[in-house]
Amino acid sequence: MTLSSAKKKRIADTVDKHLLYQESVQNVEFELDFIRDRFREIRGREPYSMREDFCGTALASSHWVQQDAENSAIAVDIDADVLEWAKGNNLPELDAAERARIALIEGNVLDVCNPPVDFIQAFNFSYWCFMDRSTMLDYFTRCHAGLKRDGVLFLDAYGGSEAYQVQKEKRKVGDFTFIWEQAEFNSVTYEQQCYIHFKFKDGSKIKRAFSYRWRIWGARELREILLDAGFRKVTVYRQAFDEETDEPLDEYVAGDDATDFACWLGYIVAER
Ligand SMILES: C[S@@+](CC[C@H](N)C(=O)[O-])C[C@H]1O[C@@H](n2cnc3c(N)ncnc32)[C@H](O)[C@@H]1O
Repeated sequence: MTLSSAKKKRIADTVDKHLLYQESVQNVEFELDFIRDRFREIRGREPYSMREDFCGTALASSHWVQQDAENSAIAVDIDADVLEWAKGNNLPELDAAERARIALIEGNVLDVCNPPVDFIQAFNFSYWCFMDRSTMLDYFTRCHAGLKRDGVLFLDAYGGSEAYQVQKEKRKVGDFTFIWEQAEFNSVTYEQQCYIHFKFKDGSKIKRAFSYRWRIWGARELREILLDAGFRKVTVYRQAFDEETDEPLDEYVAGDDATDFACWLGYIVAER
């Protein structure tokens, strides 16, 4: 390649979409802090072992094993390619002892069998790929079985009237723009088609870098299914909003109060 053709390369052709995803979508430090704080509150002890379902690049697991010499992680994803990416990019950031405490499993979360762990996390709504109640019940039942007797399952969820709208949301992240598109919504089946696109300062784009088809589940129904799966208590932690500006805060409040909310994001915490 000549210098002039290299110069002409579009930014979109030079970037790694998994790095962009990690930077724009994930905040694993915050999430692991949230999990540790809730676990301590609920169980009065420290959590050490985790299973990261739908792990993608296994970023949360990689952080978890770095945070304490006793921490261990099992990271599960069905896609061999994304796990290869994790092996080539995130795992090399760990030292040998940390790497020895993380197990990457290529498989379906509906089949996985693991030694019981303190907590399981399934974030970024990945579990919404299960479209019917019986499959969701099967998944939650398997999570229940994969937890220690005092284990806790952490999920996330969103809702509010805007969740059902066809819309695009743009956000500047460093030197690129993250675009979340809710492209289609079926108001009978509650199936939604979403995409993540990235745009760069030279105008180039990665369109449909990630594509998701899932069912929008109501938090109340998820709670009922979790209770059917054997969980004893299920709490929704909804993101708090600044009372004056209405801007979302990095704070989550327990409770079901969300009357007339146009949109909310939150966590569902299910205690075994
Ligand atoms: C939205 S990404 C989630 C990445 C990361 N966990 C996060 O929080 O951002 C969804 C991942 O789930 C994986 N996946 C989809 N269905 C799965 C299944 N049944 N079992 C395991 N992994 C699955 C996909 O391969 C993809 O890597």
